Amino acid sequence: MAPSKGFALTSVGERAYRLIRPLAFRLPAEAVHDAAMQFGRAVTAVPPVWRALNDRQQRLNQDSAVTLAGVRYPNRVGVAAGLDKNAVALGLWAAVGFGHAEIGTVTPKPQPGNPKPRIFRVPDQQALINRMGFPNHGADQIARRLHRLRDRGGWPSMTVGVNVGKNKWTPNADAHLDYRYVVRTMASLADYFVLNVSSPNTPNLRELQSHDALARTVEAVREVAGGKPVWVKVAPDGDEAQVDALIRALQSIEIDGVVATNTTVSRPPGLGVDESGGLSGRPLAELSLNWLSLLKAETDLPIASVGGIMTTRDATDRLDAGADLVQVYTGLVYNGPAWVADINRAALTAHPRA
Ligand SMILES: Cc1cc2nc3c(=O)[nH]c(=O)nc-3n(C[C@H](O)[C@H](O)[C@H](O)COP(=O)(O)O)c2cc1C
Repeated sequence: MAPSKGFALTSVGERAYRLIRPLAFRLPAEAVHDAAMQFGRAVTAVPPVWRALNDRQQRLNQDSAVTLAGVRYPNRVGVAAGLDKNAVALGLWAAVGFGHAEIGTVTPKPQPGNPKPRIFRVPDQQALINRMGFPNHGADQIARRLHRLRDRGGWPSMTVGVNVGKNKWTPNADAHLDYRYVVRTMASLADYFVLNVSSPNTPNLRELQSHDALARTVEAVREVAGGKPVWVKVAPDGDEAQVDALIRALQSIEIDGVVATNTTVSRPPGLGVDESGGLSGRPLAELSLNWLSLLKAETDLPIASVGGIMTTRDATDRLDAGADLVQVYTGLVYNGPAWVADINRAALTAHPRA
């Protein structure tokens, strides 16, 4: 029976990853990430390698497809921003069963990001700390890469979002021009955009969550977005007044969805790794879930829930709590790519198309 064959394949994949993981975890986190991206690049370069798997995933999950702000997502599970910053591995994401990938964060000009090391594992807590600072190839080069992929027929059956940021050296007063540049450059390629105003690793970026800055940024990008939906990615941090102000901004500015949340600058007691940057993975789960509940209560916007989804149950819990989409990053590092099919299977059972 097809489902049990799929299940067997998934569990073999999950077991294989459990064997490889201790070896991979002895190497620096970013080196493993780079190797994974090289693998993804190689897979993506040969469409026959991933196309059959992509088609199979499409077939298996067709009943969990959802349309949000006019864009179809073939299933509910996506690659969170930051994993494929330069859009090199789309074929791999589609092959393992993701319904969407949020590439980026893309800035107008290429930039190197912060000095290494800048990703740290916290295995006891199933967490990561990163202070990457948006290293990426820049909008022009990434757009050329995606044009080439499309022109040679290598675009997977998957929804592609572009997560947009500003260069480190751009003052906040001009930030809207950076966001506008990236959106204009990628308007014919992206299915949707996400304005990242919430990374903790670009100085003062989170100030762009204020009502006036956000309104200016959204207006600037809408004019050049070619009608593509514009979502906003929020930070999980802030005192009550800041959270209230952000919710009011999201209610009053015309946006198409919210990605909740980015990493946290808070630290649970006894984390054991003392590095600056954004914390992701299990310790972020509660904050992210609180944001989901708050957004459900206060807005009618589509929500992509991200942050601390470490088990299949975590993912279906987010869908139960009203998330339209879920995205994973740290969970993928700890569980491996075969886990994605498992989430899809559970989501299909719990949340078939209405
Ligand atoms: C190494 C790393 C790099 C990231 N880079 C970005 C980024 O460039 N843009 C962004 O919006 N989020 C970025 N994120 C945040 C993730 O997209 C996600 O919001 C966060 O990690 C919470 O999800 P998780 O607990 O599943 O990892 C990054 C996360 C990690 C771990």
